Amino acid sequence: MFAENSLKGKAGIITGGTSGIGLEIAKVLKKLGADLMVTGRDIEKFEPVKKILGDDVLTTAGDVREEKDIEAQLKAHLDQFGKVDFLINNAAGNFLCPAEGMSKNAFSSVLTIVTLGTFLWSKAVFEKMKENKQGRIINTGTTYAYGHGAYVSHSGAAKAGVMNLTKSLAVEWGPYGITCNMIAPGPVEGTEGVKRLMGNPEMQKAMLGMLPIPRMAKGEEIGSTAAFLLSDMASFITGVVIPVDGGMSLTYPGLIPPNIVKKMMS
Ligand code: COA
Repeated sequence: MFAENSLKGKAGIITGGTSGIGLEIAKVLKKLGADLMVTGRDIEKFEPVKKILGDDVLTTAGDVREEKDIEAQLKAHLDQFGKVDFLINNAAGNFLCPAEGMSKNAFSSVLTIVTLGTFLWSKAVFEKMKENKQGRIINTGTTYAYGHGAYVSHSGAAKAGVMNLTKSLAVEWGPYGITCNMIAPGPVEGTEGVKRLMGNPEMQKAMLGMLPIPRMAKGEEIGSTAAFLLSDMASFITGVVIPVDGGMSLTYPGLIPPNIVKKMMS
């Protein structure tokens, strides 16, 4: 659907790009000619990822919560590609857990990976983007950030925070030519998120039944939204949240109805 090589000459970073939604986005951007660094914590995923994306993809290990990791990874990216045109903050953490049984560390881990990690990586690329007078930041959100995150209250709070951060950065950094937007996917086929949050067939059926378009998203549907936001077509779009969720945010405000999750978890 996009012109061949439409992202050729653009170089960027996808955090948590070695699996799930991040990898799906990477596949689309790579196909359109972008130079990519994908980051992750599990170095065992790097070889298989290179097989999928190609040997010219840079893979670096690090924790999005650690500024020293980010600094080293950004340096590796700049050494290889010389510039950073875009950043996709995609690294996340999530698991089903009732709020009353969630430890401080569990809540804090997800909050810091998702919200703090997004802030730290955005801040890290800011100077380079400002220098170049252009940059695109895309944050991966979720459809339930609009409503409630029952049974994933850590992730609901974290992603709602990222939604607000998206708008704050759009306002602060717009004058420097930097846009900041968010994609809010519903469930995406074959991803870690679906495995973790709706592995149970009954859960999946209940959830899909609530979607106006009653199926999961395909990876390329999320990837092509990211490609659009990185393209020249989206040069005046900033501070928006684009749901790519088959209309789920209109018909159900959470992840899965509480009675179904409760039943599955008991
Ligand atoms: N239920 C309840 N608590 C859980 C849990 C679960 N399923 N999984 C982890 N925790 C708790 C741990 O027990 C720990 O709390 P404690 O110290 O009070 O015992 C806390 O969460 C942190 O766990 P840890 O493994 O040390 O965290 P981490 O920072 O290394 O990893 C996670 C973060 C927990 C989110 C981990 O699942 C992860 O790395 N996920 C990455 C992939 C992912 O989740 N993708 C989401 C796609 S939607």
